[in-house]
Amino acid sequence: MIHFPSKQPQVQTTIFTKMSQLATEEGALNLSQGFPGFDCSEELQELVRFYAKGHNQYAPMTGVPVFRQSIANKTNSFYGVSLNADTEVTVVSGATEALFAAIHCCVSPGDEVIMFDPSYDAYDPIVRLAGGIPVHIPLNSSNGFCIDWEELGRKITPQTRAIMVNSPHNPTGAIWSMEDLDAFASLVKGTNILIVSDEVYEHIVFDGAQHASVLLHPELRQRSFVCGSFGKTYHITGWKMGYCLAPPYLTQEFRKLHQWVTFSSATPLQYALAEYLKTPAHYLGLSSFYQQKRDLFASYFEGSRWKILPSHGSFFQCLDYAEISNESDVDLSVRLTKELKVASIPVSVFYETPPEDRILRFCFAKNDDVIMEAAQKLAQL
Ligand SMILES: Cc1ncc(COP(=O)(O)O)c(C=O)c1O
Repeated sequence: MIHFPSKQPQVQTTIFTKMSQLATEEGALNLSQGFPGFDCSEELQELVRFYAKGHNQYAPMTGVPVFRQSIANKTNSFYGVSLNADTEVTVVSGATEALFAAIHCCVSPGDEVIMFDPSYDAYDPIVRLAGGIPVHIPLNSSNGFCIDWEELGRKITPQTRAIMVNSPHNPTGAIWSMEDLDAFASLVKGTNILIVSDEVYEHIVFDGAQHASVLLHPELRQRSFVCGSFGKTYHITGWKMGYCLAPPYLTQEFRKLHQWVTFSSATPLQYALAEYLKTPAHYLGLSSFYQQKRDLFASYFEGSRWKILPSHGSFFQCLDYAEISNESDVDLSVRLTKELKVASIPVSVFYETPPEDRILRFCFAKNDDVIMEAAQKLAQL
């Protein structure tokens, strides 16, 4: 028998895979995993067909130049922030790769990385794989998952190498404001702390709010890797196309990592997106598109025993079931998938230490008929 201890003994099949599998087996409406239940536009499909001819060899390691320029231009027109496409923009295979390369290029064994729970499931294992020490700060629903800046201040030590930011937030739908960025900046100012900012839901914010990107704050921007994804914005999660925006001194190190992970990403997809990105209408309508779905889903729970938690962004709605059941959220989500045929994600899995909260996360990036059928079933409980 060959001795082969796992490098990640704590890592198991993700809850997303488990719940999606269960949803398929049970023939349940799948509001668990975060992907759209509808296709991307015909126009984008046509662009891929067009660029699949003659653009089928390796792309440059950093991304095809017209694509990087297109990303820089879009960032400029959306945020009013100017980026150098050659030294600050890198194309990667999904935000997952951006997170992996950003964390690995800056975290050395023994370094601490602070993250707020509930936190996206990739952060902790990536930090551990780099030899780093994840430092979890739990947030809770009673104050809208707001960050206690004083507590963050107390958790920062001389070993703190980086802090993970995720706004709009998966799974809670919480968003950071410009005031949050100010409070955050005053804590990291004068330190060598870096920021890995996961902004994959940047174009999905509700009720007229503006996405507060760390790019908008010079104190934060100079120390940030901004990880983005086209999957959420253009309904193409299966393409695994993303990018990392970072100042040149960080981009240089980021690219050293990226070249050993994937080297480069799918060439025809890069050309297609380079063109598609040029039309702001392709992403500007996204917030209202998803706000309508959020409101449709939530409307079924008014007057029910479910408590609707605020969703300010992303395509997730959290519901508190404390009045309905004493079961753990994992047990309830499994039971609802089997009995009610509606799949969800238990929020406790996003915590290092599961909280008292009894909350399930539902993805409303689905066709309206699916949203209505699922909500109708759930609201009866
Ligand atoms: C918060 C967050 N970050 C990163 C990702 C991964 O993005 P990608 O599919 O582009 O790798 C997701 C996908 O669900 C996400 O929700």
